[in-house]
Amino acid sequence: MSEPFSARLKASTAAIHDEVEHTTFMVDLMEGHLDARAYALLLKQYDVIYGVLESKSREFAEDPVFAPFFDARLFRADRIAADLAALDGAELPVMPSATAYAAQLSGLERAEQVIAHHYTRYLGDLSGGQAIGTIMGRHYGLPATSLTMWDFAELGKTKPYKDAYRSRLDRVAATGGDEQIVIDETMQAFRLNEALLVDLTEATEQRTVPVA
Ligand code: HEM
Repeated sequence: MSEPFSARLKASTAAIHDEVEHTTFMVDLMEGHLDARAYALLLKQYDVIYGVLESKSREFAEDPVFAPFFDARLFRADRIAADLAALDGAELPVMPSATAYAAQLSGLERAEQVIAHHYTRYLGDLSGGQAIGTIMGRHYGLPATSLTMWDFAELGKTKPYKDAYRSRLDRVAATGGDEQIVIDETMQAFRLNEALLVDLTEATEQRTVPVA
């Protein structure tokens, strides 16, 4: 039997996943070399990005290719806004790479492309993202009330949820979706995330944004 699509997608993005995971900003953030302000700056970018991702998800909710993926319990925009308010981050700047990411999301025309961005963010949030939540509390003393973005308790255990998500990926072709479009757009989604993390590396290294 040939490799399931979910495994092919994961293999296709393994190299770029490794790159995003090892961007200076991510490494410094996770190792405790930054501060609460740097985390708030990341959240400010997510505020813009998830707003558009979630309105696109709603727009495609009834599309037969995207519908199996639609799950309002995944939505993070309200949580991100609340976390940002708790961290006093409303006035932080939106980086050009976040604006570009949001523009790419706004322009998506196909269900497969929406799946790609949905997968990149939410499966990431349910995986390495869980460590981000824990580590931000530990290194920077952030209270749980400012880390609600990483709380997916409503979904139950993450492993079965991710397994079920992967089986939906495996059925994309069966619902009439084009797998190659998902792969191509997922690469694009990772590149957009990488550009964002590079922008944030520069912003935090040059202290172009005041850090407390
Ligand atoms: C500190 C940074 C990161 C760490 C430590 C990390 C770690 C991980 C780990 C361990 C997994 C595998 C989980 C599993 O198989 O169940 C994973 C999966 C994933 N990560 Fe990350 N990650 C990081 C950053 C990112 C970023 C920035 C993105 C993209 C925006 C991302 C997107 C994904 C996706 C889409 C998956 C699911 C892969 C699949 O199973 O198909 N990750 N991550």
